[in-house]
Amino acid sequence: MTTETTTPRNSRLENLRNLEPAGRLDVLAAAVGMSDEDRVTLTGADVLPMPLANGMIENVIGKFELPLAVASNFTINDKDYLIPMVVEEPSVVAAASYMAKIARGCGGFRTSADRPVMRAQIQVVGLADPSGARHRLLGAEAELREMCNARDEVLVSLGGGCIGIEVHVFETSAVGPMAVLHILVDVRDAMGANAVNSMAETIAPRVAEIAGGHTRLRILSNLADHRLARAHVTLTPEALTTKTMDGNDVIDGMIEAYALAQIDPYRAATHNKGVMNGVDPVVVATGNDWRAIEAGAHAWAARSGQYTSLTTWERGANGSLTGTIEMPMALGLVGGATKTHPAAQAALRVLGVSTAQELAQVTVAVGLAQNMAALRALATEGIQKGHMALHARNIAILAGATGAEVEAVAKAIATQGHVSVQAAKEVLAKL
Ligand code: MEV
Repeated sequence: MTTETTTPRNSRLENLRNLEPAGRLDVLAAAVGMSDEDRVTLTGADVLPMPLANGMIENVIGKFELPLAVASNFTINDKDYLIPMVVEEPSVVAAASYMAKIARGCGGFRTSADRPVMRAQIQVVGLADPSGARHRLLGAEAELREMCNARDEVLVSLGGGCIGIEVHVFETSAVGPMAVLHILVDVRDAMGANAVNSMAETIAPRVAEIAGGHTRLRILSNLADHRLARAHVTLTPEALTTKTMDGNDVIDGMIEAYALAQIDPYRAATHNKGVMNGVDPVVVATGNDWRAIEAGAHAWAARSGQYTSLTTWERGANGSLTGTIEMPMALGLVGGATKTHPAAQAALRVLGVSTAQELAQVTVAVGLAQNMAALRALATEGIQKGHMALHARNIAILAGATGAEVEAVAKAIATQGHVSVQAAKEVLAKL
């Protein structure tokens, strides 16, 4: 099942941030033609009934809530998207929406995605002739592929299924040589873990027989390097000009910041954390497996042997700045929490994607936008000013502010530059 393709959206929702949550939901509902049922679901009011929660994992004792927001202004391949994001960190959604607004003025994001191919590994140990085993396994590709596909006729009927194998040979210090057979499986709109794990377990005995060893692990790889999604954006200096800095200087600063992430793992880890600030909230909002996405992202970033940036930033011949991102994106529209969690289903309808590949492209575009926000802030005023201004609302609430006091206290402590609970309490007492 995929989500319905919906009428085109306009992702420019004026004044959204100045509304109360219920008012924002009204605006969003009108923009995407939301059903009454989805409206209720997205408010979070007992959206995950206890029997459902109890069926999802073990030893359930309750439910844990996080804010659900919508990022506006995104144009991706000339289509507007309103993007549901679940995240606890202030400034993430605001930054994504603001960068999307800048990008929109420059033509928006362009994206592409590979065919949704996942890998599973079957480890074969106890081999006398690992290279010979490799050749015998490669020779049996058609037979192994057919065995995999017989295991999942539904997937094959949808145009997916096993499309090939690879065999990798390793010499290990602990147990000697081993061969590892990979099956490459087009999993269509699924994340694909169950499909590929079942196939791997099905063919393992035959793999052992052909190789002449014993099989041990039979499990997917989260390094989904055949399932990459890409996005790029090109920004003019004018679009990046700030109150205090010329756009050309901003571009220089952003490229210098990127250059450090390219060569230094200490910086690359933080740079990529900023990318994942955009990616993970979409993954969570759509009920997908964020640990799988995180594992794939960082393994991909380290694929050359040196951990590096997931994005690139460079100046084009006409002086514009081009940012790119390419990373594994194993996301599904069917199965798991995507299917069972009512809010994930409603979030997918807000997003209006019709395939897992489209979801992957939107998600990496948000990751690129988030990285752009961080580099732009770091290259200009630093991140603390904007971050603390948004964080001030949290602090105001912690200090006991309610209703209209929250904004008033937040504004006062942000302006003073003392964003602390003590400062908020003092402002509140004066109010
Ligand atoms: C904070 O959550 C993310 C940043 O540290 C990312 C970065 O430094 O690029 C701002």
